[in-house]
Amino acid sequence: MTYEEKVTARVAQLRHQETVRILSLETSCDETAAAIIENGRVIRANVVFSQIDLHALYGGVVPEIASRAHVEACDRVIDEALREAGMTFDDIDACAVTCGPGLVGALLTGVSCMKGLSYALGKPLIAVNHIEGHVSANYLTHPDLKPPFLCLVVSGGHSHLVRVEDYGVYTLLGQTMDDAAGEAFDKAARVLTLPYPGGPRIDALAEEGDPHFLTLPRPHIEGRYDYSFSGVKTAFLNAVHKMEQNGETLPKADLAASFRYAVVSQLVDKAMLAARETNAPALALAGGVSANSLLRRMMQEAADKAGLPLYMPRLKLCTDNGAMIGSAAYYRLLKDGAAALTLNAQPALRLL
Ligand code: KG4
Ligand code: ZN
Repeated sequence: MTYEEKVTARVAQLRHQETVRILSLETSCDETAAAIIENGRVIRANVVFSQIDLHALYGGVVPEIASRAHVEACDRVIDEALREAGMTFDDIDACAVTCGPGLVGALLTGVSCMKGLSYALGKPLIAVNHIEGHVSANYLTHPDLKPPFLCLVVSGGHSHLVRVEDYGVYTLLGQTMDDAAGEAFDKAARVLTLPYPGGPRIDALAEEGDPHFLTLPRPHIEGRYDYSFSGVKTAFLNAVHKMEQNGETLPKADLAASFRYAVVSQLVDKAMLAARETNAPALALAGGVSANSLLRRMMQEAADKAGLPLYMPRLKLCTDNGAMIGSAAYYRLLKDGAAALTLNAQPALRLL
């Protein structure tokens, strides 16, 4: 039997199998992560090797260093995931991998690794969109969550408001016109000379600051549910430079709090507007920025006020991990079957 014949037969079986175990690998940016997920909902293993220490020296992710580190770590995180779950490759039904969006070299290391493994084991390969992975982190945290719901996806590279119609089916309601929310946080952190990655640093510092110290502009955008963060970022940068030129000591906590409030209130207001106007039955957050403590608090408050259930991934599942890829892969397998071995990295892949 050829690989293709074997995989086609396996996919047909898996569609009716009671427990489907997927080994997933994520290498789209600076985390090498592997996981083993059952039926898209249960985490049997979740191993994340963060490369932060390798990139911190340069103030951001260096693509070549990331690719090299992924090559070295792929095998190790997979072995570790199997050990954590007390399983061998025989217990795995399919191999999943993030195919985009992300850094091309980083993605290629993961895609090559899982293509090789899938071929060697004769098990289906599943290609996963990284953003869809972030949305799926909610399925791992909330066993009761089912589509449809409105999801605010906010990460280092994306800021989207999407309606999740069904598993793997999305409608775009709004998106950022310029910077992603995480990118804006990282840039503001750099202005305050906080180390990479800046988002969590700004968040921590902001807890002790006054969010009304600096009034930052509210963007006027044509798209009703669209976002824009570049104006806020520029106003922030100018205010900081002016204080520096005047020889003032920067009140970093107040500045961080003001910036965080400007970004988060925009995120919350538009998400709630969309929820109201589209009669969303429930709300969810996804992506690295969904770890932001003010975003979580303000969204909870707004959702409670509107009488809407709010779903947020567990903190550990907000930022990049393999578990979310394994969850998304399960629903992708049921919907579309396996990916071909001609699968390539797709650095600019979109959710829709
Ligand atoms: O989803 P993610 O891990 O990677 C991408 O797919 O981009 O998101 C990383 C982004 C970074 O920009 C990081 O600064 C931001 O999420 N981030 C935060 C927080 N934790 C991570 N931003 C604000 N507050 C946080 N607590
Ligand atoms: Zn991500």
